[in-house]
Amino acid sequence: MNHFISATDVTSIQDLVNKGLQYKLNPFIDEHLGKGKRIGLLFLNPSLRTRLSTQVAAANLGMEAIVFNVDKEGWALEFQEGAIMNGTSVEHIKDAAPVLGQYFDVLAIRTFPALKNREEDYSEMFIKQFIRFAGVPVVSLESATLHPLQSLTDIITIQESLQHTKAARPKVVLTWAPHIKPLPQCVANSFAQWVNAWGNANFVITHPKGYELAEQFTNGASIVHDQDEALKDADFVYVKNWSSYEQYGQLLSSDTNWMLTNQKLALTNQAKIMHCLPVRRNIELSDEILDGPNSLVTQQAGNRVWAAQAVLAEILNTLNQ
Ligand code: CP
Repeated sequence: MNHFISATDVTSIQDLVNKGLQYKLNPFIDEHLGKGKRIGLLFLNPSLRTRLSTQVAAANLGMEAIVFNVDKEGWALEFQEGAIMNGTSVEHIKDAAPVLGQYFDVLAIRTFPALKNREEDYSEMFIKQFIRFAGVPVVSLESATLHPLQSLTDIITIQESLQHTKAARPKVVLTWAPHIKPLPQCVANSFAQWVNAWGNANFVITHPKGYELAEQFTNGASIVHDQDEALKDADFVYVKNWSSYEQYGQLLSSDTNWMLTNQKLALTNQAKIMHCLPVRRNIELSDEILDGPNSLVTQQAGNRVWAAQAVLAEILNTLNQ
């Protein structure tokens, strides 16, 4: 694997899932794989899980990780080709990225969408500029449209839970949830892309009208606008808010009836409940769900380490060839 920004960068999702679960059983089996290698973790936006789990994963592989909070500590970056830099940006990505490529063997980058211009966000200009100019493998720590380390984690978590149930091909439901502000579509897009590519689930997406996601990611899933109908017999329910793709970046509805509660859980097949975190309690998900026995959210967040470790190992294996 050269870069990791999408499910399309992966040869076999199942192999990567299995690798992550192997690392969970034996974290230090490849403790020398990253010896002498260094990863730069660049954050243009905040993070708790992605930052720390990737640092732990790198350490498990004997790789040094250095975090750089570009948004707070770096020069303001310019990404536009041909920009006359007489505004707030100080350094062009064409100049910064090759320097970073000299310091690091792998670069990992978090860069959220601005949610103002759909074409610009969906062109993934920021992360693609790093790939173009850094000259080293690039890992997405969440980009404008996708969050692949999260999605790999999510499938690892589903697979892990399936080992304790009889459901061979689970019903997995991605449900929109209310939120107080417009959020990116990344986690939902990415989950849809990965579950569809994995191919081992009956996959349903439910949301109010107007919250349709980009078809390039949802193709293959059933779309149901009645949440109660979608939840029937679900084995896993993934709860997430996202802003409108059609009316780009807008918050169209805050309908509290879409919050997942124990009453909704009763419609399912005692479904396991997932969320990428951070979560707005009693807005997206009720306390009773998050604190109850069906919640996988802490286990899921813990699995971020094994997903990151599986991905970094793949990249290190390619570098070491
Ligand atoms: N789920 C997730 O990406 O968490 P952070 O934003 O804390 O990294």
